[in-house]
Amino acid sequence: MSERLQKFLARAGVASRRAAETLITAGRVTVNGLKVTELGSKVDAEKDQVSVDGKPVTLVPQRTWYLLNKPEGVVTTLTDPQGRATIGDFVKSTGKRLFPVGRLDYDAEGALLLTDDGEISNRLLHPRYQVSRTYLVKVKGDPTDATLDKLRGGVRLEDGMAAPAKVERFDKAEANTWLEIVVTEGRPHLVKRLCAAIGHPVVRLFRPAQAGIAVGDLAPGELRPLTPEEVDLVGQVAQGVAAPPIALKLPPRRHRKAQQAAD
Ligand code: URA
Repeated sequence: MSERLQKFLARAGVASRRAAETLITAGRVTVNGLKVTELGSKVDAEKDQVSVDGKPVTLVPQRTWYLLNKPEGVVTTLTDPQGRATIGDFVKSTGKRLFPVGRLDYDAEGALLLTDDGEISNRLLHPRYQVSRTYLVKVKGDPTDATLDKLRGGVRLEDGMAAPAKVERFDKAEANTWLEIVVTEGRPHLVKRLCAAIGHPVVRLFRPAQAGIAVGDLAPGELRPLTPEEVDLVGQVAQGVAAPPIALKLPPRRHRKAQQAAD
């Protein structure tokens, strides 16, 4: 589809439409190698090669980002052969083709980003970039200081050593304990396996934020698009910038029956 050259330049973020007109009349813009100074000229973004001062202009595709507060009892896949509730049900409600950035277990809750930006998503997940993941984890019993130190020092799992970047007590819950655990890798069920390895199995697993984007006031099962500032922040975190700390808050208490089952 063709469009006016100045509109294309504005859409590509080169300049405002008015400033793009000045670039064109000043003879600084070429289309397929030929200087164009006519303001009415049309270009096809798919086919024509537009340059400004000799530098090719490319359109950055618009990407979509959502944050879901994943409830427990939802599989992080787009479809499930067993017919369980999936992330796909939430994606459908956006009317866009999005996929989850990584996974949260079926029974885990909290921040899960949905996007169509494969590049940033890969960077957030790739072990090379060691992006931190913070979890609030309710574990059975009350681990001693010595046990937490052992966890901090790293434990041997069946797929190799794993050492969390941070382990702190966060809150007490009757016979159980909430821990804050930060890891920098995404091995399957890593947090559950770490806690099981020190003899304190996980009874509840909540991720308060992903890539710096906090669940905040989103209720379980709610989702919202990210603001442009949040999309920027996610991009920075994917580049290795540490996300600013967020105020950690426990997830809402489960209703009695589920609570008893979990305890
Ligand atoms: N670690 C786990 O064990 N489960 C998750 O869903 C995320 C991290």
